Amino acid sequence: MSRYSHIVGWGMYVPERVITNADLERIVDTNDAWIRSRTGIRERHIVDKPSETTATLATRAARAALEKAGLPPTALDMIIVATSSPEHIFPATACIVQDALGATNAGAYDLSAACSGFVYALAMAHGLIASNQADTVMVIGAETLSRLVDWSDRNTCVLFGDGAGAVILQASDQPGGVLASVLGSDGSGAYLLSLPAGGSRLPASVETVRNGDHYIKMDGKAVFRFATRVMAEATREVVAKAGLTLDDVTLIVPHQANVRIIESSVLRQLKFPKERVYINLERYGNTSTASIPIALTEAVSEGRIQPGDYVVMVGFGAGLTWAAALVQWGPPLPALPWWRRLWNTAWYPLARARSAYRRARRRFFAYWLGSRERTEEELQRLRKLRSRQEESSGERSEE
Ligand code: UT7
Repeated sequence: MSRYSHIVGWGMYVPERVITNADLERIVDTNDAWIRSRTGIRERHIVDKPSETTATLATRAARAALEKAGLPPTALDMIIVATSSPEHIFPATACIVQDALGATNAGAYDLSAACSGFVYALAMAHGLIASNQADTVMVIGAETLSRLVDWSDRNTCVLFGDGAGAVILQASDQPGGVLASVLGSDGSGAYLLSLPAGGSRLPASVETVRNGDHYIKMDGKAVFRFATRVMAEATREVVAKAGLTLDDVTLIVPHQANVRIIESSVLRQLKFPKERVYINLERYGNTSTASIPIALTEAVSEGRIQPGDYVVMVGFGAGLTWAAALVQWGPPLPALPWWRRLWNTAWYPLARARSAYRRARRRFFAYWLGSRERTEEELQRLRKLRSRQEESSGERSEE
């Protein structure tokens, strides 16, 4: 029997702090008119407390998606976090989210495909479900790019914003859900958009920091040209792969990087009507992997997506990468009894307590074993010291 994967939960979270174009005018040589006309962006949300991180934004979006799906975190078999601003090179941000959710039955990993990452992750989740390796998968796109942009570089700092979006894919025998995906890459353009330092090729050093190599670098014009071409091509391809035509598609949810990219690809090249394209980048800027799930969540809550609708999600990004997925929206979700809702939310304090207990237990054993190891080390040092003393006293008595 075929296994389908339906989107049964969705959610988003953006930090409270809003930076308007007027705010940017005060810190860098730019102006509201340029930003609006060249990008379509009016404002963006950014993290402003050290306690807000990619994982905390991701966890908030994931909780919203679980609430919508009426599922407890223990129902998750896998958590995939697509991100270009992970908490660390390792461990995976997904593992930190797994712990924060108390998703005790889930595997967790990060996926790096830049702004195409969410659609890549959606395709991976669908593959896990279709091949019977998982029943329920959380797919998150989450970013705190404000921590990686150079706030004195007007070419990049006006573009990006922070936020997170999440969906839950679940196995079903009802046709629909993820019907097709197209994933592409062209590494010959890797240098066009990158964060040069901090990896193994150019480890962080005083020099890399002095040169600003730990900030995002971009050839905006080249990325723009690439984006307009692949967005149209990938959309055409995914629709054909699903055996549909563009007329069947109810809504296109494109990566929200620049309104001119959307206009020149989806609207002009595909001649797709504007009222069937979801655009919200004027309020969030480019949130990279989070932009599509944030837009999708808003589109659903505004009633722009109904059961049975065909929805295309399409993106592009560093790598270079591009990705498109075609999803048939599933039936309405059944209402949950109050006690199930209560239990689902009561889980989070329990998850925090469980995590704290496990950390404390690990620290206790580390201390206990560590102190024994130190004693052994000290004994060895003492033995060496004594034998050296004995040797030198022997030498003295021979003299
Ligand atoms: O998720 C993937 C991430 N990346 C992208 O999606 C980026 C794709 N590229 C773009 O969206 C556009 O190329 C940008 C928005 C980055 C730039 O727009 P553009 O129309 O390609 O501008 P440009 O780079 O050709 O610059 C035009 C002028 C230049 O001045 P001159 O040389 O003509 O005097 C720039 O120095 O605009 C100037 N400029 C600015 N002026 C005011 C560049 N950035 C700014 C700014 N404010 N922030």
